[in-house]
Amino acid sequence: MKTLRILAVAIVIAALICAVGCGNKSAQAPGTSAPATGKTIVIGMSQCNGGEPWRAQMDKDLQDAADKHGIKLLLKDAQNNAATQQAQVREYTAQGVDLIIISPKETVPLTQPVAEAYGKGIPVIVLDRKVNGDKFTTFIGADNVKIGEQAGKYMAKLLGGKGSIVELKGLMTSQPGQDRHNGFMQGIKGSSIKIIFDADCKWQEPDAQREMNSALARFPQIDAVYAHNDPQAHGAYLAAKQEGKGREKTIKFIGIDALPHEGVRYVKDGILSATFQYPTCGEQAIETAIKILNKEKVPKNITLGTKIFTRENVDKGGEAM
Ligand code: FRU
Repeated sequence: MKTLRILAVAIVIAALICAVGCGNKSAQAPGTSAPATGKTIVIGMSQCNGGEPWRAQMDKDLQDAADKHGIKLLLKDAQNNAATQQAQVREYTAQGVDLIIISPKETVPLTQPVAEAYGKGIPVIVLDRKVNGDKFTTFIGADNVKIGEQAGKYMAKLLGGKGSIVELKGLMTSQPGQDRHNGFMQGIKGSSIKIIFDADCKWQEPDAQREMNSALARFPQIDAVYAHNDPQAHGAYLAAKQEGKGREKTIKFIGIDALPHEGVRYVKDGILSATFQYPTCGEQAIETAIKILNKEKVPKNITLGTKIFTRENVDKGGEAM
């Protein structure tokens, strides 16, 4: 009898310990919809270049959202090297993470490793820059053609329909560079704006500064600069300032990204005439990952909205487009 009672008490205690212990191990944070698989979800993220301000913000947004949902996020920085990024995707695939998120450096070299992961049954979310084909789970990004077109229309209005401008392009082997250029050409169509100088600045501020030095040396009349991102717009502004002829005050600068502490700050400080928001997609990526892991159907393409910030609307928080 006594042995039976001791046994019953032991079973109850064991059951209690198990209930508490198993609860702690669950990946599901209270009040979220992360799948209750009983084990922590592991997402492998490959960032093409964590050193750029917009990408540092993307990583932070991803990390914050992962923390909120009790997800373990592995973060690898390819430091702007496509071969490194290929290896990172293959490492995550071999490791068997639950899901891969990648923001690829450029289209062609990253298409194959993404397709391999997807082919092995690992869901892949591609952020901001596209890969070719359809061997990935979902793409999240803003509409860069639309952003470029709006930038073109704004430029035409700003210059009264005519003028000589410089286009400082982003990496043209990545989709946003091509889309921001093509959209811009649509936007200025029908105006008398001429692109007198253009260069691929690979998204980098120092490259933009150097190219703008050449443009300033060659052209006495530059009315405006269209830069595919804010670091490049800032590089162009610095070149004009350092030239020492006061041209930074007459040339108008337009950029893209609109981080609060970068592009939006430049508009407030009177450096840029306008910047267009390019959302980092970090929070949406984690939320979409949860849906995928919950076996919910998600769209193949998720397009996020944009905003314009100008001197007129910056204090009111910009304007959605
Ligand atoms: C950062 C960045 C952003 C830009 C985006 C385009 O690497 O250049 O400034 O908006 O990538 O993919």
